[in-house]
Amino acid sequence: MSHTLKNVAVVGAGLVGSGWAIVFARGGAAVRLYDASEAIRAQALQRLGSMLADMQAAGLVGEAAPILARITLCHSLEEAVADADYIQESVLERVEVKQAACAQIDAAMRADAIVGSSSSGIPASAFTEGLAKRSRFLVAHPVNPPHLVPLVELVPAPWTDAGIIPVLRAAMEGWGQAPIEVKGEIEGFILNRLQGALLNEAWALYEAGLASAADIDRTVSEGLGLRWAFMGPFETIDLNAPGGIADYSARLAPLYHRIALSRRDPQPWSAEAIARAEAERRETLPADQLQARTDWRNRRLMALVAHLRDQPK
Ligand SMILES: NC(=O)c1ccc[n+]([C@@H]2O[C@H](COP(=O)([O-])OP(=O)(O)OC[C@H]3O[C@@H](n4cnc5c(N)ncnc54)[C@H](O)[C@@H]3O)[C@@H](O)[C@H]2O)c1
Repeated sequence: MSHTLKNVAVVGAGLVGSGWAIVFARGGAAVRLYDASEAIRAQALQRLGSMLADMQAAGLVGEAAPILARITLCHSLEEAVADADYIQESVLERVEVKQAACAQIDAAMRADAIVGSSSSGIPASAFTEGLAKRSRFLVAHPVNPPHLVPLVELVPAPWTDAGIIPVLRAAMEGWGQAPIEVKGEIEGFILNRLQGALLNEAWALYEAGLASAADIDRTVSEGLGLRWAFMGPFETIDLNAPGGIADYSARLAPLYHRIALSRRDPQPWSAEAIARAEAERRETLPADQLQARTDWRNRRLMALVAHLRDQPK
């Protein structure tokens, strides 16, 4: 390992905490995993074993067993975090739950440890303000599932020690993740703001009856999304005009400005449109097949990740 964070604790072993445990153990760290729920703790190692077996089958990891062997299940939060260099908080997305868990972590952690919160939208300043070691906390927001999708948004609170970002960035790279830095607290960070822009437009088009949900989905899965697996919007437009991004902007910026002006009064997603989309989706995918389709999605994702890993950058 080329970074200094060797001992890692994961607090919360749900969907995201389990994925994080695999990320750190796969990256060579000694991982101590804790969840407040006894039922979750009881099945945590078995669940991790089967996730790793799927990854091994997809060619994403060599041997699953040594990775699993680096993960220790703990029965108290203190036991998990006391010796950790890095702590990944992954408890429920409710401010009072985050506050309580972070207060417990604050009391039990080493003064020089770093704490990243998996928070999807609550900024670190909302649940770390009163902590003695608050300068050691920030948001490290993953994409679900973190062991398959590498992006991590690092979002400091106003009081986060600035020296943490380069250390955590290097560690995340070392663990095989793709960190980005958000230079201030903004609701939704970067990822969910981009996703929100697309979702809000999709709902508006659907509400206006301009296309079916299936056809709007197809526009992404058979169109825009193909490039998005390996490049973002700026690089996309840089390559979509002969003279690059400035040339593209000269040609098409007025169109995008008119589109933005046409959405100056955003509306909530309407109950009527949601009911219509729900009916359309359930006709295509009955509710009792949601889990099977999720499993299919995860297998497709693993195959895509394996493919992308072997491609030139
Ligand atoms: N699910 C996603 O798509 C996704 C994506 C990115 C980030 N996140 C974020 O990750 C965090 C966890 O979400 P999740 O989807 O894994 O939820 P989850 O419900 O699957 O897991 C949360 C776990 O936290 C445990 N917990 C609650 N309080 C605790 C405490 N004080 N100490 C230890 N464990 C405690 C619960 O028992 C539960 O097992 C949230 O902040 C969420 O917003 C979720």
